[in-house]
Amino acid sequence: MVSRLLAAALLVVATPVWGGQPHQFCLSCHPAHYEDRGRCSDCHRGNPSSDRKNIAHSGLRAGKYACFTLGDTAQIKEGQLLMDQLACRRCHVSAGRGNRLAVSLDSSAVRKTAGELASSIRHPVANMPNFSLEEEQITMLVNTILAGAQGRKTTTTAPVRVHFNTSGKKSVDIFSTKCGSCHRILSERSGALGTGDIGPNLSGILSENYPKTFRNGELWNRANLKLWLKNPREIRPWARMQPVILTEKEMKELESIIVISSDPNM
Ligand code: HEC
Ligand code: HEC
Ligand code: HEC
Ligand code: HEC
Repeated sequence: MVSRLLAAALLVVATPVWGGQPHQFCLSCHPAHYEDRGRCSDCHRGNPSSDRKNIAHSGLRAGKYACFTLGDTAQIKEGQLLMDQLACRRCHVSAGRGNRLAVSLDSSAVRKTAGELASSIRHPVANMPNFSLEEEQITMLVNTILAGAQGRKTTTTAPVRVHFNTSGKKSVDIFSTKCGSCHRILSERSGALGTGDIGPNLSGILSENYPKTFRNGELWNRANLKLWLKNPREIRPWARMQPVILTEKEMKELESIIVISSDPNM
């Protein structure tokens, strides 16, 4: 009897328990809120078993990035709209949908802190367009990424790697020679091609995730692309791009670079 009491007492000492739940040391510095919706770390991450701030705050998610935990709010709807408008899915998978030309945002949501996601959008790598967004929009997108990744199994298939030409040799593929001075593209076959930022980033152009910027909100397809290259001004009177003349063989090579094999439309 005595030993059993002792064992129980020891257990209490080893794992401090309040009302059946392990104690959250967050509460020694912060008032409680949203108690009915879960524990602090369900929404904020962090480490509730330490009363030392730097440990308790490791991987912490600030309140503004935890808004998605409150449900399908107006903010999330607006974030989803923004994600569609900016066509993040021409390169990324988010909420299970999108091209796999860059890392899946569903897996980034698990591997990275919200602050890191925000900073990747604020200061994008060379092969991600700089959307020059307001802080509020970035916060919305991060919440949307986190909401989309919730309860999802992360990448069953490895993301296509974005490889960079580090050999110092000049690329001789048709995209690099004919388009790359003005455009960039992430391709399934050859990774990141092109170095130009004068024209739009063409990643995923022949897929349904690319913005519908051909005539009258039409998707780009092989036929449309041919028309455009022949004479951009015929499609868009004010277009700044000059015609690019390609042979049949060059056109085939270009298509083989920019096509996305996983796209059911192709
Ligand atoms: C030792 C005291 C202490 C503990 C323990 C602690 N915090 Fe904090 N927390 C602070 C202080 C002080 C701030 C004010 C900002 C700063 O100094 O980092 C803060 C800020 C925050 C913020 C705002 C962060 C931001 O970037 O705006 C959140 C969210 C937060 N804490 C959540 C938690 C959670 C969740 C836990 C438990 C896992 C926790 N804190 C544990 C002291 C603590
Ligand atoms: C259901 C999710 C949820 C839970 C559970 C939750 N929070 Fe929050 N927390 C939020 C949200 C969302 C905000 C942003 C402002 C708001 O809506 O109140 C926030 C804001 C905060 C802030 C203000 C600073 C900031 O980053 O904006 C602190 C500090 C904080 N929470 C600490 C805690 C602590 C400590 C616990 C555990 C007792 C806890 N939270 C539990 C969602 C949650
Ligand atoms: C043209 C392709 C492209 C588009 C469009 C694009 N990104 Fe990216 N993004 C990238 C590349 C490349 C990286 C670097 C990681 C990698 O190599 O896969 C990246 C990285 C990120 C990261 C960091 C991920 C991590 O794990 O470190 C976030 C977050 C992100 N993008 C969000 C967005 C959002 C939100 C949008 C839409 C507003 C967007 N991206 C549009 C290409 C793109
Ligand atoms: C000398 C620079 C230059 C070269 C070379 C060039 N482009 Fe462009 N391209 C542009 C510019 C600038 C635009 C923006 C057009 C506008 O003003 O509407 C553009 C727009 C486009 C668009 C429309 C995309 C959209 O969403 O609006 C496509 C498609 C395109 N280019 C494909 C190509 C391809 C494929 C090649 C190579 C065969 C190529 N371009 C070569 C400068 C160039």
